Amino acid sequence: MDDVLKGYLDRLSGEGGDALAVAAVIAALARAAVELHAAIRNGVAPTGDGGRANASGEVQKPLDLLADELFLTALQSAPLHCYASEEQEQPILMGGGSLALAMDPLDGSSNIETNIAVGTIFSLLPVLPEHGGRPERIFAQAGHAQRAAGFFVYGAQLLLILTCGAGTECFVFDPTTGKYGRRTSCRIPAQACEYSINAANRRHWPRPLQRYLRGLELGGAGPRGRDFGMRYAGSLVADGYRILQRGGIFLYPADARDSHSSGRLRQLYEANPIAFCIEQAGGAASDGVGRMLDRPQGDLHGKVPLIFGSRDEVEIATRHLAQSAAVSTAAE
Ligand code: AHG
Ligand code: MN
Ligand code: MN
Repeated sequence: MDDVLKGYLDRLSGEGGDALAVAAVIAALARAAVELHAAIRNGVAPTGDGGRANASGEVQKPLDLLADELFLTALQSAPLHCYASEEQEQPILMGGGSLALAMDPLDGSSNIETNIAVGTIFSLLPVLPEHGGRPERIFAQAGHAQRAAGFFVYGAQLLLILTCGAGTECFVFDPTTGKYGRRTSCRIPAQACEYSINAANRRHWPRPLQRYLRGLELGGAGPRGRDFGMRYAGSLVADGYRILQRGGIFLYPADARDSHSSGRLRQLYEANPIAFCIEQAGGAASDGVGRMLDRPQGDLHGKVPLIFGSRDEVEIATRHLAQSAAVSTAAE
C-alpha cells in the first residue's frame, strides 16, 4: 500500500515558499503520532494525575506531559522558530525556521482512563519579519493566518485530519504497513441532524442559546419540525471528527460561571485549528458573534466560546444570539 500521506506532502513540498517547511513539520508530527498512539493502545502510557496544573489551571496528567515531551523531541530537527503548547506556560524557542507551531499535545485528557478516543491538535503559523522573532507577536495572529492545521485521533484507528488551506483531508494509518495508507476528502453536510453539547452546563448558558437548544430537543414537535440526535464524546477531536464525517453542530458557549465566562476551549491550539479544518470542509465555526478565524487572538492560553459544524445550523444558532443581543440592547 502506498504511503498516501508521503505522496501528499511531497506534492505540497513542490508548491514553493514555506510549503517545504510545512510538509517537514507535518511529517514529523505524523511520525510522533504513530509512537503516541502505540503507547496509548498498548497501555504503556501512564495514567493518573501528574499533580501539577497547566496555564489553564487544569491538572496535568502524565500522558499530557508524555505527549508534550514526545512531540517536542520529534520536532527538534523540524524548521520551527518556536513552539507553544497547552502544557507549557510560555513558548519555547526552537532551532529556527519560518514557522511557529501551537499544540494541544493530548486533547480529551478526561477520557484517558476510559478508552474513549483522545487526540492531538496542532496549528502552524507563519513567522513574518514584522514579528521580530518574538513569540508573543507570532502567536498573536488571528486564526485566518494559519498555514496549516489539523488533529490526530487516537481511537480504534489512528487518523490525521489535515488542512493546508485547500480542503480538509483525512489520512488513516495502517499498522500492518506502518504507513498512512488511505486518504479521503472531508465535506460536511450543510444540514445538521445531531447536536453536541455538555448538557450539564445548560442551566448556565445564555438564555437565547437555551431557547435554541429547546428547539432542537422538541424536534418534530417543536419549531424545527424535525427530530435531532445528541452525541457528546468530551474529546474535541472525537466530536470534531464525527461532525466532519456526518455533520452536526458543536456548542461550547461562554456561560454564567466565572470559570466559563470566555468558554472552555483555548483559541490558539483548539478553536482555531478545528475552525480551519471545519471551514475547509465546507462547514462554519463561530465564537457566537463572528467567524472564529477572524477573532483577534487574546492571551496565549486564552479561552473562547466555540460553535462549529454544519454551515446552515451554525447560522441558525448564531442568529439566535444576534437577535437576542439586538432585543436586549433595544430593551435597555
Ligand atoms: P484537554 O483534554 O486538552 O484539556 O481538552 C479537553 C476539552 C475538549 O477536548 C472537550 O471538548 C472539552 O474539554 C470537554 O469539556 P467538558 O469536560 O467541560 O465537557
Ligand atoms: Mn484539548
Ligand atoms: Mn490537552
